[in-house]
Amino acid sequence: MKTPSSSKFVLVVLSLSLFIFLSLPSTCLGAKAKCHSEDKKALLEIKSALNNPYLLASWTPETDCCHWYLLKCNEITGRVIELFISGGEISGQIPEAVTKLPYLRILEFRKLSNLTGQIPFFLTKIPQLEELTLSWTNLSGPVPSFLGQIKSLTSLDLSFNNLSGTIPPSLGNLKNLTVLHLDRNKLTGKIPESLLAKFKGNAPDIYLNHNMLTGTVPRSFGDLNFSYRIDLSRNRLEADVSFLFGKNKTVQFVDLSRNLFQFDFSKVEFSDNLIYLDLNHNKIFGSLPVGLTEVKYLQFLNVSYNRLCGEIPTGGTGRLQDRFDSYSYFHNRCLCGDPLPACKKK
Ligand SMILES: *[C@@H]1O[C@H](CO)[C@@H](O)[C@H](O)[C@H]1NC(C)=O
Ligand SMILES: *[C@@H]1O[C@H](CO)[C@@H](O)[C@H](O)[C@H]1NC(C)=O
Ligand SMILES: *[C@@H]1O[C@H](CO)[C@@H](O)[C@H](O)[C@H]1NC(C)=O
Ligand SMILES: *[C@@H]1O[C@H](CO)[C@@H](O)[C@H](O)[C@H]1NC(C)=O
Ligand SMILES: *[C@@H]1O[C@H](CO)[C@@H](O)[C@H](O)[C@H]1NC(C)=O
Ligand SMILES: *[C@@H]1O[C@H](CO)[C@@H](O)[C@H](O)[C@H]1NC(C)=O
Ligand SMILES: *[C@@H]1O[C@H](CO)[C@@H](O)[C@H](O)[C@H]1NC(C)=O
Repeated sequence: MKTPSSSKFVLVVLSLSLFIFLSLPSTCLGAKAKCHSEDKKALLEIKSALNNPYLLASWTPETDCCHWYLLKCNEITGRVIELFISGGEISGQIPEAVTKLPYLRILEFRKLSNLTGQIPFFLTKIPQLEELTLSWTNLSGPVPSFLGQIKSLTSLDLSFNNLSGTIPPSLGNLKNLTVLHLDRNKLTGKIPESLLAKFKGNAPDIYLNHNMLTGTVPRSFGDLNFSYRIDLSRNRLEADVSFLFGKNKTVQFVDLSRNLFQFDFSKVEFSDNLIYLDLNHNKIFGSLPVGLTEVKYLQFLNVSYNRLCGEIPTGGTGRLQDRFDSYSYFHNRCLCGDPLPACKKK
């Protein structure tokens, strides 16, 4: 049984929450600026250049473009700052109207298997572009040299396309890069000596895997702190890359597998930062360095299909026997000992 005073209380609470509920949306929206008319015009041009795909159905002239899907506005200025066109049935080329969004910081065309053509020069005309992602598309042609002009870039992801030709040395001018993904293309030639040469200290995470790159890895890669990952796997890179390792290195994830790397592993030193090391299918010789047993947090190791010899070192905190099974070590010249068959007594 409710007393009159408690039902009055309930009424007050109800009307109060109704008031809050009603006033919330308007105050929230009121704080946000409306879409800039020039940006709306540019977006509608992009939609039309892509043949009005279903993916962009929310882009209708009657509505505020800051509410459209696949983009983000600056809430104060109402200018479009991020555009993510991804995962739809879109056919055609990258529309030039993207250059009419002068405040764009992030531009992404991703998972669009019918996006064709080459990477266009007009992308250099977006003055504040920080992240450019053109990935999982059918874009072909070269990684253009003019991308080195977009100095504001912090992230360049051109992975999973059909790009060919060589890596332009001009990418070395992008000194603010923290991410460089050129993996899963058909790139050939050498990694340019100047690619990371201008980086002082911290270098971008670099993914060049699954291409057809040849030659040696620039020596300058050894003087840099990679924040997380280097992946050079599945290329035709050769010679010594042992300079990527050392006690003072910050990199955590190193994949050099399926190349033609050739160096003496015996004297290589490792930092405690190393978590993942894949060297399978190379021509690495010597023995497993004892220092490997001291890499505390090593979670993945694969040195299979190389030319290593000698006993797998025991002891240490790294516990090479317990952590990794024979599939990490097999197919070497004469590597032996647990978890591989015992070494032959001399
Ligand atoms: C790509 O284009 C082909 C041929 O026009 C079409 O059959 C296919 O559905 C399209 N795929 C996507 C994801 O747009
Ligand atoms: C690229 O287009 C070709 C046909 O032109 C198609 O067969 C292929 O699947 C497309 N590539 C991707 C990654 O979807
Ligand atoms: C590079 O980054 C620094 C620090 O964030 C910034 O001050 C500078 O303007 C950036 N350079 C370019 C060309 O955007
Ligand atoms: C990739 O590009 C090459 C030419 O550079 C072309 O011959 C080939 O058909 C393209 N592959 C796909 C899947 O589109
Ligand atoms: C790399 O990082 C280490 C440890 O954080 C630091 O001592 C060293 O000076 C850095 N090296 C460069 C080239 O910045
Ligand atoms: C590690 O030390 C070597 C030799 O002292 C130095 O040349 C190299 O630049 C250092 N690397 C990093 C990433 O700091
Ligand atoms: C190491 O690489 C080889 C060759 O690709 C593979 O067969 C093996 O399973 C890998 N080992 C581990 C532990 O992943």
